[in-house]
Amino acid sequence: MKARINERDVDYRIEGESGRPDDQVMLASAIDLTAGQPWAAEGHSVAQFLAPDEQQALREGLTELVREFMRNAGLSVGADFDISQYHHAVGDSKELHLAVVNQIKEIRQERLPLPAALLEARVGELCGRTVQALNPWDGERFFHLRIVRPNCADNNPLHRDVWLPDYRDCVNIYVPLAGSTADSSLTLVPGSHWWPESRTERTQGGAVYNGVSFTVPAVKGAAEPLRIIRPNPGPDEVLLFSPYLLHGGAVNLNPDQTRVSLEMRFWPA
Ligand SMILES: [Fe+2]
Repeated sequence: MKARINERDVDYRIEGESGRPDDQVMLASAIDLTAGQPWAAEGHSVAQFLAPDEQQALREGLTELVREFMRNAGLSVGADFDISQYHHAVGDSKELHLAVVNQIKEIRQERLPLPAALLEARVGELCGRTVQALNPWDGERFFHLRIVRPNCADNNPLHRDVWLPDYRDCVNIYVPLAGSTADSSLTLVPGSHWWPESRTERTQGGAVYNGVSFTVPAVKGAAEPLRIIRPNPGPDEVLLFSPYLLHGGAVNLNPDQTRVSLEMRFWPA
């Protein structure tokens, strides 16, 4: 499939058997946490997040957590290591990168540098209703860190989170921690949370994307050119987005900076 992000061509090659999409709109039978908000039609919003000192504490604490995970993987990392230089630290070692990535997928919220309640309160304000970072489908309270090296196939292909069973009814946040720029931050297709399944072709099961296997199904193609954008929140901001939106495929086009971000999900309380 031809894909363009911010008017730039990117390599987007998906392998995997195609599903048979119907005209179902998944969000139509779900709780829409964007409902009633000025950003409901687009399905995403960039907003000021926490108070400046809290946001700084969040960023610094999570940066230190990344350093800790790197040390656990056997890397020697000083207290002032700039995590945007992660790709130089792991070098060509797939094993080292995997040893780090295996620690960042599902992290217990006790490891957050701030109480999860602070984040819940602010996300609740932005959604106009009370939310909690508790997944009702599996009873877990996790957050995730994403590490996407420059010009590597580390990023997920385009997908809806709700193609996996545990993410219905929630809203996602993306908070930049390092190296998140107009060339590397999360990509999404505005308004696609209301698209019928038939508007895109996708893999039935997990996809192979530019040669790398992922558990989530992925968009294989679309009859129309997809308008993929990067909202690019600043260091004090948050990107809120519906898990029903097509998103991902965010290849990091920074010349020499790894992108590190926080992702977390919130459900109606
Ligand atoms: Fe996702």
